[in-house]
Amino acid sequence: MAVRGNFSSKLGFIAAAAGSAVGLGNIWGFPYEAGAGGGAIFVLVYLFFCFALCFPVMLTELAIGRKSGRNAVGAFNALGHRKWNFIGKLGVLSGVLILSFYNVIAGWAFGYTFEMAAGNFAITESFRAYTTDIFAVGGYGLMFMICTAFIVSKGVSAGIEKAAKILMPLLIVMMLSLIIYALFLPNAMAGIKFFLLPDFTKLNLSVVFNAMGQAFFSLSLGMGTFITYGSYINKKDNLVTSAALITLTDVGIAIIAGLMIFPLIGFVSGGTLSGVGRGPELIFVTLPYIFGEIGGSAGSIVGMAFFSLLCFAALTSTVSLLEVPVAYVVDEFKMSRKKAAWLMSGIVYLIGIPSLLGNGYSAYFSEFITYVNATTSTDFLNFIVNVANDSFLPLGGSLMVFFAAHIWKKQNLDAEIAIGFEGYQDSFIRKYLHFVIPFLLPATLFIIFAMIVLVTFFGF
Ligand code: TRP
Repeated sequence: MAVRGNFSSKLGFIAAAAGSAVGLGNIWGFPYEAGAGGGAIFVLVYLFFCFALCFPVMLTELAIGRKSGRNAVGAFNALGHRKWNFIGKLGVLSGVLILSFYNVIAGWAFGYTFEMAAGNFAITESFRAYTTDIFAVGGYGLMFMICTAFIVSKGVSAGIEKAAKILMPLLIVMMLSLIIYALFLPNAMAGIKFFLLPDFTKLNLSVVFNAMGQAFFSLSLGMGTFITYGSYINKKDNLVTSAALITLTDVGIAIIAGLMIFPLIGFVSGGTLSGVGRGPELIFVTLPYIFGEIGGSAGSIVGMAFFSLLCFAALTSTVSLLEVPVAYVVDEFKMSRKKAAWLMSGIVYLIGIPSLLGNGYSAYFSEFITYVNATTSTDFLNFIVNVANDSFLPLGGSLMVFFAAHIWKKQNLDAEIAIGFEGYQDSFIRKYLHFVIPFLLPATLFIIFAMIVLVTFFGF
C-alpha cells in the first residue's frame, strides 16, 4: 500500500479512535436521551446494544479498513467488490450530513466557553435567544470548522493523536470532580436513582429505537469511520482488544456524564426531576445554572474548563467525521490532503447553514417539514438527524456486516481479525461473531432501519 499516515503507536490509535467516539454524543446526547427515555431502563437497553450489536460492527469496520488499507469507498474496491462501494458512498454522505449539524452544536459549546468566562450564567434563561444570535453562533461554528479542517489537513496521526492522549484524561478528571461536587447537593440521590434503577414499565419500542440510535451514533458506527481509521493501523495490533477498549471508553464516559448530570437535575428540580430542561438544551441550560450556583470567578473557571474540554471532545469527533470524506477524495481523486480538507469543510459548513438558522432564527427552517401523520413540524437540524443518524447509520451498519459475511466472506474477516490475536480461532469472540454476523445482526439492523423510517417519516 502507498504510504499512509499511520498512527505512531497502538495507544495513539486508541486515543484517536476513542476520541472519535467520545464527543457531544456522550456528554450532550446521552443524558438527554436517557432523560427522555425513562432513565435507567434506557441505559440498560443502550448498554446491551453497545456490547451485543455495536461491538461486532466496529470489529467488522476495523477489519475491512485494515485489510484494504483504503478509505470507506476505496476499501470495497480494494477487496475486489467495486459494486458494493455504494455502502462507502452512503457513509461519506452520512459523514457530510452529520458533520453539518454536529458542527452547529459544537459552535454553541464553543461560544459557551466564552460566556462562562465572562460569568454570563444568566444565559440559561435565554438559550433560544442565544441560538438565534446568528452571527455570533455562526461565527463560533465557523471557527470550529476551521480548527477541524486545519487538523485534518495535517493528517490524523500528526495533531490529533498527541492532543487526545493528554486532553481525554483531563476531561475524565474534570467530570469526576463534578460528580463528587454534584453528589453532595440536596436531592442528588433522586437523580441518581432515576439514572440507575430501571423502571421496566417504561420499556417500549421508542426506547429501544432511541437506545439503538444513540449507541450507533456514540460509537461512530455505520459510516466507515473505523474503516478509515482502521486503514491507518498496524498489522500487529489486536483488533478485538482495540475495539473493546474503544467501546469501554465510550460507554464509560457516557455513564460518567450521566452520573454528573442527573444529580444536578435532582438538585435543580428539588427532587421532582420535572420542570428541568431535559431536551437538547440540557447541558446548555442545567449545567450553567449550576456553575452560576458555584458563582463568582470559581463558577467561571469551572464553567470555562467544562465547556473547553467538551469542545475538545467534540473536536476529536468532528475530525473523524471530516476524515471520512477527505480520505475518500484524497485516495480516489488524488487530491492533496490540504486541498481536500479545506474544500470538504467548506462544503459541509454551507450544508450546515440551514441547521444553524433552524433554531428559531428562520421560521422556514425551524418548521422545515411535517412528516406524515405528525402533529408538529420538525426543524432542519432534527430532519438531518432523522435522515443521517437514525436511518443511514443502521442501514450502513447492516450493509457492511452483510457485505463482510457474504460477499467478502467470513473466512476473510476471520483471517484479518486473527492477525495480531493469537488463539482467535478457538475464542469465544469468534463463535459469537459467527453466530451474529451471517444473519442475526444484519437483519436486526435492517429491521430497525426500516421501522425507524416507517415510524418517523410515515407515522406508522
Ligand atoms: N461519536 C461521536 C459522538 O458521540 C460523533 C461521531 C463522530 C460520529 N464520528 C461519527 C457519529 C461517525 C456517527 C458516525 O459525539
